[in-house]
This record gives sequence, structure tokens and C-alpha cells, in this order.
Amino acid sequence: MLPNKLKESLEKQIAHADHPREMVVDVMLALQDHYGYLNDEAVETVAALLEMSPLEVEEVATFYTFTYRESVGKYVIHVCDSVICWMDGYESIRDYLCRKLDIAVGATSADGLFTLLPVCCIGYCDQSPAMLINRKVYGHLSPEKIDSILEKLKVET
Ligand code: FES
Repeated sequence: MLPNKLKESLEKQIAHADHPREMVVDVMLALQDHYGYLNDEAVETVAALLEMSPLEVEEVATFYTFTYRESVGKYVIHVCDSVICWMDGYESIRDYLCRKLDIAVGATSADGLFTLLPVCCIGYCDQSPAMLINRKVYGHLSPEKIDSILEKLKVET
């Protein structure tokens, strides 16, 4: 159940949009932040708020890289696998993350903290190899830098 405060805030934002459905990504992300991922209830709520069908929302949700239809960890790591990062060591960075978290790409660590997913170019090619964690960019990655980033996040948890 969506808290009234969040529902009212979203309704206010939607009322200011020229076309309600242009808010679909913003509304999906707001509900994802609330539920942890876009569960079926969230998809139906987005659809009701925007006067869309659940199928239309589902189509956007499964197309957009940063919405998750399955449960994810507290931190979602999107490691860039596009050409510049690939040339600058993407595979060794990906393999290091897999070993460090003891998971395969697409999975969540046993402690529920980290989910590792691939992503197309995130626009930080000048900092390759790069990744996003909860949509914040980390570049010039190395095993040492990854250790430091992950340890810091664990301490903050
Ligand atoms: S190719 Fe990785 S950020 Fe552009």
C-alpha cells in the first residue's frame, strides 16, 4: 500500500505534466525506491496513477535499464560492458566483482547487499572502466578501488 504522502506528491507532479504518461519513468523510480523493486503491486499502482494499462507499464519497466521487476540488493552495481570499457579491462573488472561478491552477473550477494548487472555505455567513457552503484558513477576502476568502494558501502549499511 502506497503511503498517502507519497501518493499525493506523485499526483501533484503528474497534474503538472502535459501528458500523464510522460511521467512513467519518474513514477516507476519513485515506487521502486519505496518498494525496493517494481513488484506487481507497484506496476498496477503506476498504471492507475497514469491512466495506463499494467501491460503498458510492464513494457516500459522491462525495457528501461534502471527499473527492476525482481528483488535486488540494497546496492545495484551496473558495470559497463560497452566498447571503451571493454577495451580498458571490463572483463577483468567484471570477473573481479564476481569473485569479490561470490556471484554471477545478474545475481545478488548472499548478504542481500549487492546485485551485479551489466549496462550499456553510461557516458563516462573518459573514466573507463566504469560502473554505477545506485546510479552514482565510479570510474577508473581497479581491484583496489573496488575493494575501497565496497568496504565503504558496507560500513554505511
Ligand atoms: S563505454 Fe563504458 S562508459 Fe562509455
